Amino acid sequence: MEASSITVSLQFLLLLFFTTIFFPSSFASQQQDKPPSYLKMVANASEFPLEDYYDYIIVGGGTAGCPLAATLSQSHRVLILERGGVIHGKLNLMNQEGFLNTLLSATANNANNEDSPAQSFVSEDGVLNARGRVLGGSSAINAGFYSRADCEFFTKSGLNWDLKLVNESYEWVEREIVFRPDLKTWQSAVRDGLLEAGVGPYNGFTLDHATGTKIGGSTFDSQGKRHSSADLLRYARHSNLRIAVYASVERLLLASSSSSFAPNSATGSSVIGVLYRDQNGRYHHAMLKDFGEVILSAGAIGSPQLLLLSGIGPRPYLSSWGIPVAHHLPYVGHFLYDNPRNGITILPSVPLEHSLIQVVGITNSGAYIEAASNVVPFLSPPQTAFIRSSASPLYLTVGTLISKISGPVSAGFLRLASTDVRFNPIVRFNYFSNGVDVEKCVNGTRKLGDVLRSRAMNDFKFRNWLGVRDFRFIGPALPNDQTDYAEMADFCKRTVSTIWHYHGGCVVGRVVNRHLKVIGIDSLRIVDGSVFSVSPGTNPQATLMMLGRYFGLKIIREREGKGTHEL
Ligand SMILES: Cc1cc2nc3c(=O)[nH]c(=O)nc-3n(C[C@H](O)[C@H](O)[C@H](O)COP(=O)(O)OP(=O)(O)OC[C@H]3O[C@@H](n4cnc5c(N)ncnc54)[C@H](O)[C@@H]3O)c2cc1C
Ligand SMILES: *[C@@H]1O[C@H](CO)[C@@H](O)[C@H](O)[C@H]1NC(C)=O
Ligand SMILES: *[C@@H]1O[C@H](CO)[C@@H](O)[C@H](O)[C@H]1NC(C)=O
Ligand SMILES: *[C@@H]1O[C@H](CO)[C@@H](O)[C@H](O)[C@H]1NC(C)=O
Repeated sequence: MEASSITVSLQFLLLLFFTTIFFPSSFASQQQDKPPSYLKMVANASEFPLEDYYDYIIVGGGTAGCPLAATLSQSHRVLILERGGVIHGKLNLMNQEGFLNTLLSATANNANNEDSPAQSFVSEDGVLNARGRVLGGSSAINAGFYSRADCEFFTKSGLNWDLKLVNESYEWVEREIVFRPDLKTWQSAVRDGLLEAGVGPYNGFTLDHATGTKIGGSTFDSQGKRHSSADLLRYARHSNLRIAVYASVERLLLASSSSSFAPNSATGSSVIGVLYRDQNGRYHHAMLKDFGEVILSAGAIGSPQLLLLSGIGPRPYLSSWGIPVAHHLPYVGHFLYDNPRNGITILPSVPLEHSLIQVVGITNSGAYIEAASNVVPFLSPPQTAFIRSSASPLYLTVGTLISKISGPVSAGFLRLASTDVRFNPIVRFNYFSNGVDVEKCVNGTRKLGDVLRSRAMNDFKFRNWLGVRDFRFIGPALPNDQTDYAEMADFCKRTVSTIWHYHGGCVVGRVVNRHLKVIGIDSLRIVDGSVFSVSPGTNPQATLMMLGRYFGLKIIREREGKGTHEL
């Protein structure tokens, strides 16, 4: 296909989800909802005692951490320690249109500003990425697409899943925060285009993973209001749960296992509590009661980082930082993955409504196809004298088609940039270092080409001066000869970006066992995206929320059984 390009500023090329300009918040007038009831359990860390005791201390009030805490609080005294603040009252977080602004403010702000709910980082691969830093975690800043894991995930993830409990846990989440989206122009056209391109059958609206094209769930409701894992705190027993925000956990507190905390331990150390810092710089000790546990739910970047800072990791590496080694665990921070995203963006010939991901094409060739339509500021190049004022840029909605590969198999690793937990670790994903990932990307981007050639996409073309209808691409177009593998592979590497589904760093079998207990340390578990070496389904948040609920129930049952039959 012939690609006509329009002249755009450099900043505009960065677009899709990333631009460096703020656009006006037309939604700012939207009325404020009444505060959620969970706010009654939330206080600033500075208001917490300098020392206190809990059955379960959950580090990170994120996607997995909130459902886990809500569940455990049914029978135990639970503390959540979250480094960020709360989503309520932050308009950008509360609705779909604010999605980009949240990411933009993360890029513009100091990465260590605790008040910014998204913390940006750039991997050594050169790809701009983001981490949630707010109660609700990354589910409070994400694109809201909700879809359960594929069946293969449950057989290959290394855990002994109870599939009935898995389903009940998904349903527990879905009852509260998952909605059926309303498709508008762009998402409908993409659905039709996928079917024309052979990504069938059509599975309609379903939360299940199945080959073909479907409409998935959304954590945005019909009013466009965001729901996040923090809303699952509604299920908590209020008298049993305390939530400290602006509580930055600096390290785990360990004791040698000869202590009374772990009388049966055959190994080195046992966790007895955590040390956290409030926003005034004061240190607090949260300590475990007998038979309690610390559970890390700090995410794929935060959990391995905290293990390393606590002296749990590869001995030579920890020594190089002068961190006393509590337990040699060679793969902490390794087997870290990010699914590459590649795609195209067009300026449509007809106006589009704003949409985040609602439709997905699940191919059987290693790629998932998704789409979004976003409002972006169109900056006229400075030379153009015809547009009146650069102070009033045009706002346009562009259509994006993306391909995400499954897996991936290319692995990277994480290392410390500082012994201060507030600094992002140095992260490398090694996108496309394995040829299988390249092949999946070529398959996926070829499928994008098929979708663009579908009749459903015709409506978005412009007629050029020769009367020929074609797309106006913003940024790179697909190679003309899509049968040329080398050219397609080059496109994949040249245009790689992230869909923010990074995972791993504390994977099952290397850092945690199949009960998600940290190998060789007592009273310490990890329940978040860091334990998986493949990303579940097309998009991970459904499964991470399920995981929190699921392990909450497992832990309660294990304790009721007095440890006689472990999970
Ligand atoms: C921009 C973006 C868009 C996305 N879109 C989608 C989508 O549409 N659909 C989908 O399914 N997935 C999406 N994802 C991915 C998904 O949101 C994440 O994979 C998932 O939320 C990760 O969950 P988690 O529990 O592992 O970590 P998180 O939810 O990130 O939770 C970790 C929490 O720990 C806290 N924390 C970290 N370190 C510390 C510390 N030292 N002390 C105290 N607290 C700490 C963090 O502040 C955070 O709240 C998106 C992600 C992003 C960033
Ligand atoms: C909690 O801390 C934040 C940020 O430091 C501040 O804006 C807020 O007013 C504090 N809340 C209370 C109840 O002190
Ligand atoms: C769980 O749900 C899936 C999808 O809805 C279904 O196919 C499966 O049979 C269920 N499994 C169990 C054990 O209930
Ligand atoms: C790429 O697609 C081809 C054709 O559908 C398929 O045979 C192959 O297995 C796919 N590659 C991967 C890595 O999935």
